Amino acid sequence: MVVGEAPGQNEDEGGEPFIGRSGRLLFQLLSEEAGVEREECFVTNVVKCRPPANRTPRRQELAACRPWFLEQLEDCAPRVVLALGNTAARAVFGYVDGIGQTHGRVCQLGAAQGIATYHPAAALRAGPSVVGVMRADLGILKQLLEQA
Ligand code: URA
Repeated sequence: MVVGEAPGQNEDEGGEPFIGRSGRLLFQLLSEEAGVEREECFVTNVVKCRPPANRTPRRQELAACRPWFLEQLEDCAPRVVLALGNTAARAVFGYVDGIGQTHGRVCQLGAAQGIATYHPAAALRAGPSVVGVMRADLGILKQLLEQA
């Protein structure tokens, strides 16, 4: 299960998560580092509607969408959960610290194990240093999948 923040403009128009540039980078890295293809993933966001001008979702927006996310989590019964970026990492795993501290940590989420990494949009902005961290985190994800 792959969990992002909220739909961007492409996703809002296309009705599917991660179909824009950041999704292309994400699934390229997932394929290269973990051998996982998009078709093998349940892909979703913690917030279901696009916040105006792509701002970070507010606490009330996260709370309003939480029942849908929890239902998806239950229905999906994932082997492994990957959360992308600060907002998703906090909403999924309950982290208080930022993604700089929490990425790469293995966390138990019910029967599944989970891990957070940077949001691919952050990697597109920041470049190779963040891509390198994401690759390392996805290597840990690969190990979790092999154990699951
Ligand atoms: N960013 C997200 O967090 N989710 C998407 O679906 C697209 C971009």
